[in-house]
Amino acid sequence: MIIALDGPAASGKGTLARRLAAHYGVPHLDTGLLYRGVAAALIASGHALDDEMAGVAAAAALDLSALDRDRLSTHAIGEAASRVAVLPAVRNALLDAQRRFASQPGGAVIDGRDIGTFVCPQADVKFFVTANLEERARRRTREIRSRGQHAVIDDVRLDLERRDARDAERADAPMKMADDAHLLDTTDLDIETAFKRAVDIVDRFRDR
Ligand code: C5P
Repeated sequence: MIIALDGPAASGKGTLARRLAAHYGVPHLDTGLLYRGVAAALIASGHALDDEMAGVAAAAALDLSALDRDRLSTHAIGEAASRVAVLPAVRNALLDAQRRFASQPGGAVIDGRDIGTFVCPQADVKFFVTANLEERARRRTREIRSRGQHAVIDDVRLDLERRDARDAERADAPMKMADDAHLLDTTDLDIETAFKRAVDIVDRFRDR
């Protein structure tokens, strides 16, 4: 069983994906970490974020099992990742690893922006997780502050808006809800309720 989750930044899809993976006992891949890993490697080696050749090399050298979530999950790396993610050759260099992960025998939970539409169009259950911009900005601001860093909600809102536009408007595998995805709007849902709704949908598929 492959469960695919897509949606914009700070929508809750990552938390939901982790909870679903734990619940069904299957491995989880946060594909945002791959783009973040490439961006971090480019920054560390002093390359520009639009250096496609260096991006492809960084993507090829990426070790999926060694991606440091804590180090990569800063807001700034997320921004850089979305700039790297517009490069078709970089996306292509990350594709095989994602598909291999998704098709392992026991199944997988995989989340990102283009999973249900492009990476795993054959996924058994697809979710598009979203929330309105204001709520996402509130969540992201809280998250940044919880790391002891300074954040101004107006700046965070602007960043998210820009990032959504970049992710949704890029030519190659843009963020988009798949036709057969279940929409989960978490604006007014706590994580527990969103999780229960998702489990109901997955269980309905499993009982078929
Ligand atoms: O989900 P996360 O915020 O970690 O993703 C960082 C960036 O990586 C996104 O803004 C997006 O540009 C890119 N990304 C993507 N395709 C994916 C996952 C992430 O383009 N499947």
